[in-house]
Amino acid sequence: MALCHPELLTSAHDVELFSCGNPALDDWLKTRALSNQEKGFTAVTVVHEAGRVVGYYGLAPTVVLSPVDTRAIRISLRPGLDYASPDCATPLPCLLLGQLATDIAWTNRSVATALLAHALKRCLVGAQLTGAPAVIVNAPDEQAEFWIRRGFLASEDDPVVLFRSIPDIAASLQAAGLSLPS
Ligand SMILES: CC(C)(COP(=O)(O)OP(=O)(O)OC[C@H]1O[C@@H](n2cnc3c(N)ncnc32)[C@H](O)[C@@H]1OP(=O)(O)O)[C@@H](O)C(=O)NCCC(=O)NCCS
Repeated sequence: MALCHPELLTSAHDVELFSCGNPALDDWLKTRALSNQEKGFTAVTVVHEAGRVVGYYGLAPTVVLSPVDTRAIRISLRPGLDYASPDCATPLPCLLLGQLATDIAWTNRSVATALLAHALKRCLVGAQLTGAPAVIVNAPDEQAEFWIRRGFLASEDDPVVLFRSIPDIAASLQAAGLSLPS
């Protein structure tokens, strides 16, 4: 059976059997995702097979508080930018890709890759509306490689934080032949 197109999580989706190998991401989907979405904290997008969720991601607004990271993000957009510029002031509003996971039964079949492309296209729309300059992910050591291979840069200030600028995301989606939101 084919997977559905990505859609917003609802109470009609079956999340109970979801297992990605990371208990925190499993528990978050089962116990917090729907309420977080209903409260407007996180938009949770899922793909499912006959109602059973096999992959998901969560997008939320965030702010970068670290002056070091703010400068790194701003300078990645405008390399000549003066460190003392008001544009480098904190907090810096950004977009947080807080969760991305695929059920073990579906790994290595490009589910996460497709969800990530979907999420990044959404981020471009969000950035157009809000001016957010970058997408942030939080990834402990063992997960960082996944994001670095996808163009994210490790923060100098906090090893768990990685970011990727919106122009870089737009360029990579375009290079991959994916249509960009207008
Ligand atoms: C990591 C994860 C999202 C990959 O999902 P997937 O649908 O199998 O991914 P795809 O088939 O689209 O792509 C496979 C890629 O994931 C990588 N991958 C698989 N398991 C991984 C893991 N535990 N940690 C890091 N990378 C992993 C593969 O090496 C491959 O990378 P490559 O394309 O650069 O070679 C999925 O295994 C998962 O949910 N793991 C538990 C949660 C987690 O560790 N998340 C961290 C990264 S978001």
